[in-house]
Amino acid sequence: LFAGPIAFLKSAPTLEFIPEPTVNEVAFAGRSNVGKSSLLNALTNRNSLARTSNTPGRTQELNFFDVGNPLAFRLVDMPGYGYAKAPKDLVKKWRFMVNDFLRGRDVLKRALVLIDARHGIKEVDRDILEMLDKAAVSYRMVITKADKIKASELVEVTEATAVEARKRPAAHPEILVTSSETGLGIPELRAAVIEAVR
Ligand code: GTP
Ligand code: MG
Repeated sequence: LFAGPIAFLKSAPTLEFIPEPTVNEVAFAGRSNVGKSSLLNALTNRNSLARTSNTPGRTQELNFFDVGNPLAFRLVDMPGYGYAKAPKDLVKKWRFMVNDFLRGRDVLKRALVLIDARHGIKEVDRDILEMLDKAAVSYRMVITKADKIKASELVEVTEATAVEARKRPAAHPEILVTSSETGLGIPELRAAVIEAVR
């Protein structure tokens, strides 16, 4: 499926603009700069499907990507959170939009919550984990940028993340470890997405 056509469908700055819920979806969530857009590109084998950047807060809308022709499922790149310099009303807007999206989207089969290997789960991440648990959206935590730390540190952060996942009702107990840079864990991530939308 990921070898076939994948196309940017639309960018929704508010929920009025999201597409009709006609096919299953998998969403990418995570802190600003965690590597959501990069992972989406690695997953789909495209270099610039989703815009990546060094400037945190690049993605501020919900971006929808169509996979397959005929359309098989959609990937949703969610706006990043936890950006320190974000104005308060933007943070509020993000919370309302994301919360409403998560609660009202029957076709959303799974969320992937990305966690930076260098930082592990932070307080800002717990906010979205709570939202997902309360909305009963099943999710899986994905460690990103695994290439940035030592193997021993990677084991530690993965284990700490798994401990947290096991305490959370809607979390998948197993953690995926990835690097968009080296391709580590990308085939496993593809399999996890396909399993979720099947
Ligand atoms: P926002 O849209 O701002 O929320 O950011 P994002 O989560 O989409 O992050 P993005 O994919 O734009 O990546 C942020 C920065 O991290 C970019 O400079 C990427 O090149 C870098 N990056 C992303 N993934 C990896 C990775 O696996 N390894 C390394 N070394 N760098 C990465
Ligand atoms: Mg992005």
